[in-house]
Amino acid sequence: MLSESRVNVYGAAVGRMMQTASGPYLYDTEGRAFFDLFSSAGVCNFGHNHPTLKRKLISYLEKDGLVHGLDYFSASKNRFMDLLENLILPPTEKGRYHYYFSPPAGTLAIEAALKYARKFTGRQELACFTNGFHGLTPNALSLTGNAAKRRAAYCALPHAIRLPYEGYCGSDFDSVAHYRKLLSDPSGGADLPAALVLETVQAEGGCHTATARWHTDVLNLCRELRIVSIVDDIQAGIGRTESYFSFASLGPVWPDIICLSKSLSGMGLPLSLVMMRKELDVLEVGENSGTFRGNCLAVESAANTLELFADPSFQEIYRHNQKVLADFAQKLEHDLDLQVRGRGLLRGVVMPRAEEARQLVSQLRDQNILVETCGGAPEVIKIMPPISTDPELLEATLATFTHTLKGQLK
Ligand SMILES: Cc1ncc(COP(=O)(O)O)c(C=O)c1O
Repeated sequence: MLSESRVNVYGAAVGRMMQTASGPYLYDTEGRAFFDLFSSAGVCNFGHNHPTLKRKLISYLEKDGLVHGLDYFSASKNRFMDLLENLILPPTEKGRYHYYFSPPAGTLAIEAALKYARKFTGRQELACFTNGFHGLTPNALSLTGNAAKRRAAYCALPHAIRLPYEGYCGSDFDSVAHYRKLLSDPSGGADLPAALVLETVQAEGGCHTATARWHTDVLNLCRELRIVSIVDDIQAGIGRTESYFSFASLGPVWPDIICLSKSLSGMGLPLSLVMMRKELDVLEVGENSGTFRGNCLAVESAANTLELFADPSFQEIYRHNQKVLADFAQKLEHDLDLQVRGRGLLRGVVMPRAEEARQLVSQLRDQNILVETCGGAPEVIKIMPPISTDPELLEATLATFTHTLKGQLK
């Protein structure tokens, strides 16, 4: 029998032959439906084959819309940028970013962002946070906290300064004062970095969540020290928390660079974007080439996704689902004395140990619910349903989750 490489992750864990997908469900070749409670690792925030997005893409193809267009200027890219500026950005941020459709993987958006920051500052050093995850290419991986993932590079990685994320050293620790001292002390052992890369919710690292205060202080510190701030919104963005950008609810200070990927196309098509302050747009023609950038079909769908996201009837379901998850989190904390991290539609249930987390994932799979673990051990069950799920269906699925969890904790 022919076999895929052993390196495969989800296929080996689930062991089913998937064939079709609709809304929050994946269907295998035997017709068994699985509720995708982690939105295919945050790629399908709008569910699978969302009817509006699918219909619009089919119509685009029927008109022979451009699919691969190198990096030609295109009507789709224009429409996307226009909609983002007009439907999503607050008035204070309009016209302040340039857009680079990078090679299509989250990690490649991070690599590109770092290149912009290094060229702009003329510095090489990078700074990042404990429990951060930014991808598997060398520079992105050097910023990743998880030792097993870094070891699996099988080569030396660039050096990075790793700073304790908010709360890492306890709630009394003044983390921002620590960063300021370390990064500005000529004898502190850390060179001034070109960039500081952060997530507002560390999705892979265990759903540790930044407060508005910390986030604002970190971005202001970057300004003070002339370090380029890069928010990796690859997993926490595109509506995953409470707004299109995860940091929009964390105060008026916006980062110098924003990286997006995963759910950007709304249809699971590979697409990545780097938004940089205009003055940071310093790479010369061809300095970050790649054959597949800004795939027109994916960009066209990303523009359609912005229209869908801004639609009042979508927003109603979206807000309803945020309430469903907030109630779910509160109940688990209150009734089962479990810690639930995260915010909006990205939550992490902290299990006592990794073994219990592993068992719960397997029991949920038997109940036709797909979730994944995160965190260092990994001991956290990540809950991130498609944000477009019918709220009643979401409640019913979370009730099954809670029932299974209770049985497991007995
Ligand atoms: C926050 C974050 N950044 C970057 C990446 C890397 O994205 P990709 O797997 O598309 O390279 C991920 C993937 O999970 C992520 O969660």
